[in-house]
Amino acid sequence: MKILIIGSGGREHALAWKCAHDISVEHIFVCPGNAGTHLEDKISNIEINASDFGAIENFCISEEISLVIIGPEQPLVDGLTNYLQSKGIDTFGPSKEAAQLEGSKTFSKDFFVKYNIPTAKYKSFDGFDNALNYLDEINYPTVVKADGLAAGKGVIICESKNDAIEALQNIIKDNAFGSAGNKVVIEEFLEGEEASFIAVVSKDKIIPLVTSQDHKAVGDGDVGLNTGGMGAYSPAPVVTDEINRKILDEVMYPTMHGLIQENSPYLGFLYAGLMIKDNEIKVLEFNCRFGDPETQPILLRLKSSLVELCKAAIDDDLDNHKIEWTKQHACGVVIASAG
Ligand code: AMP
Ligand code: GLY
Repeated sequence: MKILIIGSGGREHALAWKCAHDISVEHIFVCPGNAGTHLEDKISNIEINASDFGAIENFCISEEISLVIIGPEQPLVDGLTNYLQSKGIDTFGPSKEAAQLEGSKTFSKDFFVKYNIPTAKYKSFDGFDNALNYLDEINYPTVVKADGLAAGKGVIICESKNDAIEALQNIIKDNAFGSAGNKVVIEEFLEGEEASFIAVVSKDKIIPLVTSQDHKAVGDGDVGLNTGGMGAYSPAPVVTDEINRKILDEVMYPTMHGLIQENSPYLGFLYAGLMIKDNEIKVLEFNCRFGDPETQPILLRLKSSLVELCKAAIDDDLDNHKIEWTKQHACGVVIASAG
C-alpha cells in the first residue's frame, strides 16, 4: 500500500519513518516533507500546497493512496479530513469541527467547563479595553493566550500587570499572531509539572499511547519564551499509574463523550497538555494531533504497526486492536537556528 503524510516537521519524518517499517507499505509520500524525509528509503517528498485540497485529492487518486495521515493542526482545522473523507479517501485525523479543540482556546475552555474537565480559571475577551480592565481583578503571574493557532508561540506567561498589558497590546493591537489574536484568553497561572498525554481515539474508543514530557521554553535550562517544543522524552515519570487512570477518567473519556454529544465524534491523535501537582491534574490545552517533538520519542518506543493502528481507528475496530511498546526510554532533542 501507499501512504500520504501531510506536513513538514520532525513529527512527519518520525511518522513516515515508522510507517516505512511495515512490509505492507510500498511507498510513503510526504507533502511537502523536509530534508530528513528526502533522505529516507521508501519515502519521497511531494510539492503540493497542503491548502490545495483538490490537488491532494487528485494525487491520492493517481497514486492509489490507501491512507492519509495529517500531521499538523492547520490543515485539520481547515477541514482537510472532512474534504478527503467526503471523496472516499481513508484519512486519519479529526474533522474541522472536532479540531476546534485546538483551533480555538475559547472553544476548548468553554468545552472543559461544559463537560466538567479540570482546567485553570479563565475569561475570554474580544476587545482590548475589557481585557485591560480584567487585569485589575487578578493575581500574578497570569497567562495571556491568543485564541487561535499560533504555532505554540501564542501563550505568554506574565509576571506582572505591565507584562500582561504588553502581551495584550502585542496580541490584540499589534496583531502579532494575525487573526489568531482576534480573541484572547486570560487564565490563572498553574504551578506543577507538565506532561503530554496522547491517545488514538475513534468515536467512543481510545488507545492511550505511552506518556511523554516536552520542554517548551526556548533557552537552555527551560528559560525564555515558549516554542512548540525544544525536546521531549518518554515516558514521563510524573504520570504514575494513578495519574494515568485519573487522566483517562477525568480528561480523556469526558472529552471523547463530550465530542460525541456535540455531534463531532473524534478520529485521530488526541493530545492533552496537562499540569500535574499533588496528584491533581488540570488541562492546559488540547491538541488535535500528535505532538512535535513528542512524536519522535514516542514512535521510537512503538513496537507494533502504526499503519495498522491508524487503519483500525478508521475502521472503528480499536476494541480488537492491541499495541506493543518497548520498555526502553527515548529522548528527542531539537536543534534550532538562532531566531
Ligand atoms: P498551551 O498552548 O495553552 O498549552 O500553552 C503552552 C504552554 O504554556 C504550556 O505547555 C505551558 O508551559 C504554558 N502554560 C499554558 N497555560 C498555562 C497556565 N495556565 N499556567 C502555567 N503555564 C501555562
Ligand atoms: N510539543 C507541543 C505540541 O506539539 O503542541
